[in-house]
Amino acid sequence: MKKKYFYIETWGCQMNEEDSEKLSGMLKRIGYEKCEDKKNADIIIFNTCCVRENAELKVHGNLGILKKFKAENPDLIIAVCGCMMQQKGVAEEILKKFPHVDIIFGTHNSYKFPEYLNRVKQENKSIIEILDKEEGIVEGIPIDRESDVKAFVTIMYGCNNFCTYCIVPYVRGRERSRKPENIIDEIKKLVSEGYKEITLLGQNVNSFGKDLKPACSFSELLRSINEIDGLERVRFMTSHPKDLTDDVIAAIAECDKMCEQIHLPVQSGSSRILKNMNRHYTREAYLELVKRIKKKIPGAALSTDIIIGFPGETEEDFLETLSLVKEVEFDSAFTFIYSKRQGTPAHDMEEQVDDEVKHERFNRLVEVVNSCSIKRNKEYEGHMAEVLVEGLSKNDESKLMGRTRTGKLVNFAGSKDSIGKLVQVKIVKANSFSLIGEEI
Ligand code: SAH
Ligand code: SF4
Ligand code: F3S
Repeated sequence: MKKKYFYIETWGCQMNEEDSEKLSGMLKRIGYEKCEDKKNADIIIFNTCCVRENAELKVHGNLGILKKFKAENPDLIIAVCGCMMQQKGVAEEILKKFPHVDIIFGTHNSYKFPEYLNRVKQENKSIIEILDKEEGIVEGIPIDRESDVKAFVTIMYGCNNFCTYCIVPYVRGRERSRKPENIIDEIKKLVSEGYKEITLLGQNVNSFGKDLKPACSFSELLRSINEIDGLERVRFMTSHPKDLTDDVIAAIAECDKMCEQIHLPVQSGSSRILKNMNRHYTREAYLELVKRIKKKIPGAALSTDIIIGFPGETEEDFLETLSLVKEVEFDSAFTFIYSKRQGTPAHDMEEQVDDEVKHERFNRLVEVVNSCSIKRNKEYEGHMAEVLVEGLSKNDESKLMGRTRTGKLVNFAGSKDSIGKLVQVKIVKANSFSLIGEEI
């Protein structure tokens, strides 16, 4: 029988990545194989993001191109899913504009994709199925993971924080935590398959377990994961500064498998803007928290997310962001230009910042962020680092690529046998985004 292929393109964050790995897992289970070129595919899936406007525009562009594909191959099935579809009216609008789309579903029902696939083949008409509200957590969906060395494990879904700029709570629903035993079982299974590193995922991992009975705190979860034999490294993201408690910091400091790396989105350095963003912490509280982290976890790498041009941001507010970045000396930062999202409170705030001002501030911020990164990276030069080797380097396949415990990317010459292993590497040179090493 002729092989059947699917192609999947994913925008957005790790939440969407994980959903795509599950869609792949389900399709492989029913006999499809993955392909890297959409020209060869029998099914094309776009898993969309809507956190910023440019993510949405990309989807429109890509769907337009598929019209030609469908005309050449009428049996081709085109599916669109993900966060963008959860917004009111978007699915209908997509189908109207792109009638060649066959299946549209949302973030709460992606586990039903094989069922939709069957239906569309039988009924031969487009399906739209979006659930407004999250359901319980569906366990046991096969996951086709990208890497053989490190894996992402979602510990909670949704978000309750409603930061005023953010669409995520509207498209991902309320917070719900997986049962600790399901998480531990999944990690043990991954370890038995040879995985060495896991990253625990959630929009705000610090509120893990608050909805469980009996309750289980995030630090308790970390400590029990640390007991799993054969596992080498644990990371997590994302932490909300308002909820990162001392018991979590202590767990990272005391548990040998917990990596010294924290992603702690600050969003702005101005307390006034933070208040309008509904972030529930001040500039001072954030800086205090960073001090405690640096004291308890020496050498910890800190990364962050920053939004430029939130409504009402003045030059003074922006300068406070710049000075906070300099004071913390982040290892890295994701920098975003504020993007208006329909349905969020900030969308209707007065004093939207001019595009030109936003871009000018953005460029100044990036310069400061890059100089912090290079400064932090330079501190590794001449020192040894433990690197978990993930595979061949992206740009030079004669080299290996791995990461330090602090999450720094290291490229170095070494034997392919080291892939999946921990090796000691001497760091010889630091760049802004990576390190160059020599295996010792
Ligand atoms: N739950 C995580 C991150 C979610 S979205 C957290 O709270 O940190 C990832 C990042 O996108 C956010 O941290 C924020 O910096 C950015 N972001 C979210 N909404 C945005 C918007 N409307 N415009 C620009 N950036 C945005
Ligand atoms: Fe969005 Fe805020 Fe929730 Fe993060 S914590 S997903 S920024 S609402
Ligand atoms: Fe985008 Fe959805 Fe993640 S909106 S950032 S893919 S939760």
